[in-house]
Amino acid sequence: MFKSIIAATAMVLASSQFVWSADYTIRLSHGDNETNPTHLTAVKFKELVEQYSDGKVEVQIYPNNSLGGESEVAQALRMGSIDAEILYTGNLMPLAPSSGVLMLPYAYNSTSEAHKAMDALLEPLNERIIQEAGVRALGLMEKGFRVLTTNKPVETLDDLQGLKIRVSPNDIAIQTFKSWGIEPIPMDWAEVFPALQQRVIDGQENPYTTAISSRFYEVQSDITEIHYMIWTGPLIISERVFQSYPEDIQQVVVKAGKEAVDYGRQVSAEKTDEAIAELTKRGVNLHGAPKDEEKWQSSAQALWPQFYGQIGGAEWAEKAVGIIKSAAK
Ligand code: MLT
Repeated sequence: MFKSIIAATAMVLASSQFVWSADYTIRLSHGDNETNPTHLTAVKFKELVEQYSDGKVEVQIYPNNSLGGESEVAQALRMGSIDAEILYTGNLMPLAPSSGVLMLPYAYNSTSEAHKAMDALLEPLNERIIQEAGVRALGLMEKGFRVLTTNKPVETLDDLQGLKIRVSPNDIAIQTFKSWGIEPIPMDWAEVFPALQQRVIDGQENPYTTAISSRFYEVQSDITEIHYMIWTGPLIISERVFQSYPEDIQQVVVKAGKEAVDYGRQVSAEKTDEAIAELTKRGVNLHGAPKDEEKWQSSAQALWPQFYGQIGGAEWAEKAVGIIKSAAK
């Protein structure tokens, strides 16, 4: 009895000591499960921050939207009631319009082109989103092209007609799908799987890795590589929280953020190949690009000037497009 009281007391002291040893705690939220590259990036960020700060900073990860939907959490970051988040740019855009430059349809031919553009955009983008949403991006993560999953083959624009496709609630995705002749359904990310299951929607678009981590293969039979957008997602920290740190901790957070995002991009590429193999094994029909891809591309690209007003104005949009185009050279 005496021994077990001593053991229990030692455990309490040990766990309290662990809590006391961290001077700062970063609560980091994201909307995916533990097998998704977003989570692996979060885990890398935790490892690096804790290592570089010699344990002065602890990172607690909250996956699966457990602290709230992606846009809702981004709002909490402004107040500093949650500290950090990795989220899809489309879910940040309603709060930080300037981030929409990362979402112009058919802006990139490859992920390596996107990396160059995103790295060059990080600093000028931060100047704007700190003002707009009170958040700072430590790096811009990327998970590959978003692909269209459906419950019937879609190989041409004609095949798409009449389908109820969920998009993230941002105007760029909505207008792009409208330019393809359908009325998309904006919906919070957390609601997508049940909506597919109950056939409230016929399809959605997200990277290959998400089709695995969110088990879309259970409710979707076909995938088309519409290539219209790469999943980009900033690792953001509340500016209010960031400014409350001493300089050495700010430096740790910035360095760890950049390295974690680089790791996340690399792991995404590996996991994308694995996801394609796994989806094939599970009997999902992979169609590659649409046969009439040029039509999809030209109607979506024609919308760019129309988007400039909502992504921070023509001056910023044209500057950002210049950066994106130089990255492609
Ligand atoms: C979405 O479609 O809302 C996002 O791509 C989900 C995610 O963050 O993985």
